[in-house]
Amino acid sequence: MQYRLLIVDDDVNSAKTLVMILEAAGYAPDYAPSAEEALALLKEIDYDLFLIDMILPGMDGLAFLRSAKEINPDLLAVIITAYGSITTAVSALKLGASDFLEKPVIPEKLLHILNRIFEERRLRREVVALRADLLKRYRFENLVGKHPRMQEIYNLIESLSSTDSSVLITGETGTGKDLVARAIHFHSHRKTGPFVAMNCAAIPETLLESELFGYERGAFTGAQRRKSGKLELANNGTLFLDEIADMPYALQSKLLRTIQEKKIERLGGNRLISLDFRIIAATNKDLSQELTSNRFRLDLYYRINVVPIHLPSLRERLEDMPLLVDHFLEKLAAAKNRNKPALSQGAMLSLMKHSWPGNVRELENVIERAMVLCPDNLIEEIPFSLLPSDIKTSNTSEWLDFDPNLPYKTVRDQALDKIERQYFMHLLKKNRGSVGLTANHAQIDTRTVLRKIKQFGLNRSDFKKISE
Ligand SMILES: Nc1ncnc2c1ncn2[C@@H]1O[C@H](COP(=O)(O)OP(=O)(O)OP(=O)(O)O)[C@@H](O)[C@H]1O
Ligand SMILES: [Mg+2]
Repeated sequence: MQYRLLIVDDDVNSAKTLVMILEAAGYAPDYAPSAEEALALLKEIDYDLFLIDMILPGMDGLAFLRSAKEINPDLLAVIITAYGSITTAVSALKLGASDFLEKPVIPEKLLHILNRIFEERRLRREVVALRADLLKRYRFENLVGKHPRMQEIYNLIESLSSTDSSVLITGETGTGKDLVARAIHFHSHRKTGPFVAMNCAAIPETLLESELFGYERGAFTGAQRRKSGKLELANNGTLFLDEIADMPYALQSKLLRTIQEKKIERLGGNRLISLDFRIIAATNKDLSQELTSNRFRLDLYYRINVVPIHLPSLRERLEDMPLLVDHFLEKLAAAKNRNKPALSQGAMLSLMKHSWPGNVRELENVIERAMVLCPDNLIEEIPFSLLPSDIKTSNTSEWLDFDPNLPYKTVRDQALDKIERQYFMHLLKKNRGSVGLTANHAQIDTRTVLRKIKQFGLNRSDFKKISE
């Protein structure tokens, strides 16, 4: 991880030297020429550490440290004092600075101090994260996700383990309805019994009834021997009725009766068979719509919707993307007997920009294909061809395009915007995302740079890794 540092120093040359030292050591330094500008930056950007020169024009280093700590009490700071000004250093430490350095700054000493501070913070955070992990699960059975909705679902699955209540799982395609159904079964007291799945959309309507209820020999032409139905096969276990919305209306009432009475009769038979099963149903359709258009029976809906579970789409829980990607890299690497590759931050960002209509299944497919195309241990970027078309990209070749039907002023403003955007992208790239150096180069203040970054929807971290 690259730490973001802010150097607060009115001397541009000494700041530039520090920037060079820090960049060479792998940090991402930024720079502000005054305490006031640093405070403005602090409100916008989450810095990891501040290097503060005590003597600044306007607000001095100590006053800045005090105000900065008010904004973010956890911020880390190293103070740079003039040689021998030990009392100032002590005051700074009392205010919560982590350490101090005397001028002239010796590079090795600076890097040593930073190393120590970040190592301490890493350990502290690890302890906090480990504690949080004890309370929070990132996976449950094969389900991965730390989003609060996923946490609720894990808890719900657990609380369902001692009951036989019917469950209705809804959610878009590829959100994990199948996985949840299995997790419920394999977590319940029925786990030693069978889990039988039936996809109501995949079986022709005419065969659904015999699939569900089974038949006796000679029940219809072609019924040469007796066959047990899915309900019977699910005895002492769970019957998962996938795509329940596609079940024909007439069959729905027969199913309802069966669920209530827990007895079936095979087609062509004359004997009632008592059964013990749990029903879990799933659909990616909007059942309320099916209800109003009379394609789904309200009474059956109430019978199966005892416990509703709605799975969030992937775009609603994009924060789970890194966990899911990691999960698939691990799973697929194991299946292919190769080392688990890593994914670059840029590749992760490009995944996050997508809206994933096919949800987790689509993501898994993209990762799998990316792994095939990139046999190395680092997937630097996801090939464009793999990503569905709604990824936002900037197309530089069309930056001079304009619509001649528009009024002059609109065309001029649009063109200026495009040029300005290119200009700031160029400077940010040159200065590896540093707002302070960009401002210095453009001879404007840092606040304007920040405003432009926002205005043009740029992302500073995109420029950090690109070197000249
Ligand atoms: N939370 C998750 N964690 C890990 N893998 C997941 C998760 N959700 C879905 N998947 C994976 O995505 C793929 C699709 O999941 P699943 O078949 O359960 O989706 P579905 O909701 O039943 O989709 P459909 O409506 O198309 O049947 C599977 O390979 C599954 O392993
Ligand atoms: Mg499914």
